[in-house]
Amino acid sequence: MKKILVAGGTGYIGSHICVELINEGYEPFVIDNLYNSSEKSLERVKEITGKTVPFYRADFLNEKEIGRIFGIEKPEAVIMCAGYKAVGESVAKPLEYYYNNLNSLMLCCDVMRKHGCRNIIFSSSATVYGDPAEMPITESCPKGEITNPYGRTKSMIEEILMDLQKADPSMGVVLLRYFNPIGAHPSGLIGEDPNGIPNNLVPYIAQVAIGKREAIHVFGNDYDTPDGTGVRDYIHVVDLAKGHVAAIRKLEKDPGLHIYNLGTGHGYSVLEVIAAYEKACGKELKKVIDPRRPGDIACCYCDPEKAEKELGWKAELGIYEMCRDSYHWQSLNPDGFGTTEHAPICLQDSTLS
Ligand code: UFG
Repeated sequence: MKKILVAGGTGYIGSHICVELINEGYEPFVIDNLYNSSEKSLERVKEITGKTVPFYRADFLNEKEIGRIFGIEKPEAVIMCAGYKAVGESVAKPLEYYYNNLNSLMLCCDVMRKHGCRNIIFSSSATVYGDPAEMPITESCPKGEITNPYGRTKSMIEEILMDLQKADPSMGVVLLRYFNPIGAHPSGLIGEDPNGIPNNLVPYIAQVAIGKREAIHVFGNDYDTPDGTGVRDYIHVVDLAKGHVAAIRKLEKDPGLHIYNLGTGHGYSVLEVIAAYEKACGKELKKVIDPRRPGDIACCYCDPEKAEKELGWKAELGIYEMCRDSYHWQSLNPDGFGTTEHAPICLQDSTLS
């Protein structure tokens, strides 16, 4: 395989995937509607790699347009990172989330079928495990009760892809269950550019570290964890991106259905992450303890052994590197890419025109 479609490739994770694909000799191209991202990220990918990534601004609900692009580019595999992704927003706007995320995926699979593209890698999430029954979480851990529509779209898409692969065993499907991707490319040229007030811990810490926000809000210190704050399996976004290249390699040799956790296998508490960030940015950061955030679980980290055994992939970077690279990106780009459109989410905007 050579030509790979990165759907949602101007975003945080997608842009890092483009870099790693290019580093390994693949030819990525990107389709994105720029709903929550900036085309500038691909200019930066060019600065990093010296290669231009062909870019098409199109919506995954527009079948004609997606079909036209497939006709031009003829991808051999799709990495599906496109979709709405904010947990809180999904609770307020469930219809938009189900409509957009599920239809985009189904339309993409239909176009793939029509164009003879048989391989898809899907950006899934540890959220499909709900509040997991066992820790560390292995891929055989049963899926749990998911607390929000965003997470349910991930789980439903997994089911859809499993059914498609069952009906056509020549299809290659890899479900990658991301734990908590953080950090940025070490060049400081690409990184996470959240919309408004960051929902996630590390982008929030980053904005406190550069003085854009006053204090970090720690959501609860009375969990059943060593220091009482929530524990997560943070993974450097570059390691995560490399996991996708390993998944493509897997499909080249061994199509079929594969499911992998992408994490480091280490859990860090909120206070431990803040301490690592303070070390990385060389200053103390103000923090306040707030009540628990509804829907949060105490602890979530994976057993990454299956990916290591079957993909030959293992996360290499630790929590310090994650915080260092996040701070580097945020210091160089205090306003992110500066051009993100941040259009308000609206069903009409995303329906077929
Ligand atoms: N937290 C804070 N303060 C903040 C933000 C978060 O204390 O300002 C805490 C949370 O309570 C949690 C930890 O930091 O204990 C991590 O929270 P994040 O919001 O960074 O990440 P989550 O684990 O809640 O969610 C992430 C992704 C989801 C995905 C999920 C899978 O954002 O998309 O992991 O487990 F579904």
